[in-house]
Amino acid sequence: MTKFPELVFSGVQPTGNLHLGNYLGAIVKFVELQNSHQCIFCVVDLHAITVAQNPNELKSNIREVTAAFIAAGIDPEKHIVFNQSQVPEHAELAWVFNCVARIGWLNRMTQFKEKAGKDRENASVGLYAYPTLMAADILVYRATHVPVGEDQKQHLELARDIAQKFNTDFSQSIADSGFGEAYFPMPIPLIQGPATRVMSLRDGSKKMSKSDTSDYSRINLTDDPETIAQKVRKAKTDSDALPSEIEGLIKRPEAENLVSIFASLNNQSKADVLSDFGGKNFSSFKAALVDLAVLKLGPIGLEMARLKKDEAYIDQVLSKGSHRAREIASQTMKDVKSILGFIQ
Ligand code: AMP
Ligand code: TRP
Repeated sequence: MTKFPELVFSGVQPTGNLHLGNYLGAIVKFVELQNSHQCIFCVVDLHAITVAQNPNELKSNIREVTAAFIAAGIDPEKHIVFNQSQVPEHAELAWVFNCVARIGWLNRMTQFKEKAGKDRENASVGLYAYPTLMAADILVYRATHVPVGEDQKQHLELARDIAQKFNTDFSQSIADSGFGEAYFPMPIPLIQGPATRVMSLRDGSKKMSKSDTSDYSRINLTDDPETIAQKVRKAKTDSDALPSEIEGLIKRPEAENLVSIFASLNNQSKADVLSDFGGKNFSSFKAALVDLAVLKLGPIGLEMARLKKDEAYIDQVLSKGSHRAREIASQTMKDVKSILGFIQ
């Protein structure tokens, strides 16, 4: 088996309303991983345009995600932070992968079915092909580890299938070009911890999402302490006290969600949270959750607001990051073209 050096890659879409799910499911993991791994973090603007975007809002959202990365603690000097559209190799490799992936594979993608909804004929071709671009994002760096929330698991499986099929279909040429047995690694999803799927505060059966029409369904990273407090206080719960054991959360999705959020923000297990709060009512638990959320998110929101005003700094981070990313990505595209038999 070919051994690939460990490299972390992940992406976040600049589609507005960055929320607690993005933070706990993805960004917190990025911050942890940067101490043990070389990392590349991408603002995936090419993914954003798979649905309609207002150009001025898109620009502002690209800067906002970048500001969130830095405010949360990602070091853009040590690691690479950039926006996808400044590195054309992503789209170039995605085309190659469109020719590797099978229509049957894409037809199984549940996110497309959810996002396209009933009016599937009217969805963009880009929305359908979105997962092949995501595979290209990862594999253009030959990244080995991908921290994401639970909702991205199926897309990661598709990226692995694409890597595998490319390696098999072109095995002879890969060997002839001097790359050994496999050119692409099989990227490993990192989906860990108590909050890999943060649910809506209004409905425990729905994912917390940027596009929910109710702002009370999510805590945004830019919310001020008073707004955070109001949203937590209004969060849907049932009328029972908190259980003392994890089993007591079964069939209580809203309770389970708030306990998971608390555990994740406080770096604890759900069992630890329940051993502290078991038997207490929701009003005292919610008060503790407000304090914790304000303590952890407040400083990030303030720093995001400060950084967002410094557009020159943000744009320079993205430009420098893109140059560094391109050095790696352009080498991969040269290799891929040689493997495919293109003249260059
Ligand atoms: P997106 O906003 O779709 O670009 O998502 C960026 C990252 O946040 C991805 O790794 C997602 O899996 C993660 N994410 C989005 N929503 C949630 C959620 N409700 N719970 C946990 N992770 C999430
Ligand atoms: N599809 C991811 C999401 O919606 C974002 C994304 C794009 C991504 N490319 C990626 C995540 C590569 C991890 C790796 O959340």
